Amino acid sequence: MARGESWGTRVGLVLAMAGNAVGLGNFLRFPAQAAQNGGGAFLIPYLISFVLMGIPLLWVEWAIGRHGGQFGHHSAPGMFDRLGKRKWLKYLGVFGLFTNLTVAAYYCYLESWTLAYVWHSLVGTFQSTSAAEFLPRYLGQHEGSFFALPGEAFFWFLLTLALNTWILSRGLAKGIELAAKIGMPLLLIFAAILAIRGLALEPGVDPGVTQSPFEGLNFVWNPNLSGLTNPNTWLAAAGQIFFTLSVGMGSIHCYASYVRKRQDIALNAASAGWMNEFVEVVLGGTLLIPIATAYLGLAAVQQSTAGGSGFGLGFLTLPTLFNNWGWFAPIAGAMWFGLLFFAGITSSLAMGQPVMAFFEDEYRVSRVRSAVLFGLGTLLLGFWCVWLYPGGSFDEFDFWTGTFSLVVFALGEAFIFAYIFGMEKGWEEITRGSDMKVPRIFRFIIQYVTPVFILVVFVGAMFNPAGGDWAGAFSSLLSGGGWSFDPGSVIGRVLHTGVDYAWFDDTGKATKVMVQDLTRILLMLVFSLCTWLVWNAWRNKERRAA
Ligand code: ALA
Repeated sequence: MARGESWGTRVGLVLAMAGNAVGLGNFLRFPAQAAQNGGGAFLIPYLISFVLMGIPLLWVEWAIGRHGGQFGHHSAPGMFDRLGKRKWLKYLGVFGLFTNLTVAAYYCYLESWTLAYVWHSLVGTFQSTSAAEFLPRYLGQHEGSFFALPGEAFFWFLLTLALNTWILSRGLAKGIELAAKIGMPLLLIFAAILAIRGLALEPGVDPGVTQSPFEGLNFVWNPNLSGLTNPNTWLAAAGQIFFTLSVGMGSIHCYASYVRKRQDIALNAASAGWMNEFVEVVLGGTLLIPIATAYLGLAAVQQSTAGGSGFGLGFLTLPTLFNNWGWFAPIAGAMWFGLLFFAGITSSLAMGQPVMAFFEDEYRVSRVRSAVLFGLGTLLLGFWCVWLYPGGSFDEFDFWTGTFSLVVFALGEAFIFAYIFGMEKGWEEITRGSDMKVPRIFRFIIQYVTPVFILVVFVGAMFNPAGGDWAGAFSSLLSGGGWSFDPGSVIGRVLHTGVDYAWFDDTGKATKVMVQDLTRILLMLVFSLCTWLVWNAWRNKERRAA
């Protein structure tokens, strides 16, 4: 039972928490988001979001987690149930199940690409085939249909899921903690070696290099104030903080629930958070953009990060660029994708544990069976992402589960923590047993600033106007011209703004809209199932108690 489990060592706990945060987002999403949002202009809103939203949410989530753990709850529904007397509180915790399960589904698929790419780098595939041709074929996109059954991609996906399930079934200390103790140092070593090699590239000396990699580094690191007045830069920066820290997911709560009542959480949370920022800004900022800039120039790099995921540069461009590195090329490829794999798996394990813990605590299912249940759930949902990848199912998952849900959950928890659990108790919970002096200003920030900050992000994401032109949108609204939603805004997506709404085209072929709608229906069904599971678990408990 999860109840009896605990972390082996403090170092192990911090590494596991840092591993939870450090993920593909640090090495792919961060550089791409920075490139898309003006490089250094992105950095200041990003750091402000970290301090006013990221750090406070880390403390809140660790506190909710450790508090819930005292009552034998290691997943969000039970923990939220204990934050107050209202019966509906546990239903906010449904997000902590839903998000972890659904993010794990598409995230493990992505993680499996990195494993496949380690193999293909080592056997020299990218020396004979360009990665730009390889990936669409690997994903089944080359057939021109919205459906695909790519055998090799499915094989690596199964292997990745099996690995995750196996590690989870070994338990906290022997599974997750051990994986973090092996994965995190290796990740740091690989990243450091590649960063040193990348920054040593010299135009005129290294074949193919046209510019200094420092051009790219300056672009990312040289802060400028222009982003401060752009609401879209703020939205992107806040979104990155959510994703990279894994806040608003329910995974931090779960890991923290295995911490004892008087054991420090304040310093642990801050250490894991800062470690993530170091890996993201320092290492993540030094790899993708500077290396690609050295060969392709900044303009091309910015172009290939369109969409902000970093997939293009990471999976299509980089393996080809490594070919210029002679005998080191296969090793560099294996290190790059190896570090992505370690970053990924230490995060996906953190998505599995809360789902498992829910079954262990609330349904008394054994650890191994819970791990298998998580593996099967992820397989079913992940299959949807593999099969309909060309039709956009993966992107739908990424938006609704990996972006939108995090903000909704965080918004709910920030208000509940400050106003239902109460700041008096909340502050005591954060600071009890603390090995650092938490600056008192954070009490004020957690109570007033963070909830409002998240609310603004939420409203901004809902109503983001076409092209991000807020001033234009307001003047159009005031002059009676209405508000035009950006296709990327929440409402724009719901309404399929900017596309012809049809499930079939003139030739009777399924459209992207159909894949998007079906994916949304699937996600709503999964959410309903998670809600039912919570309702049923509590009904059973009440029956037992009666
Ligand atoms: N925090 C994890 C990442 O950055 C999910 O990838």
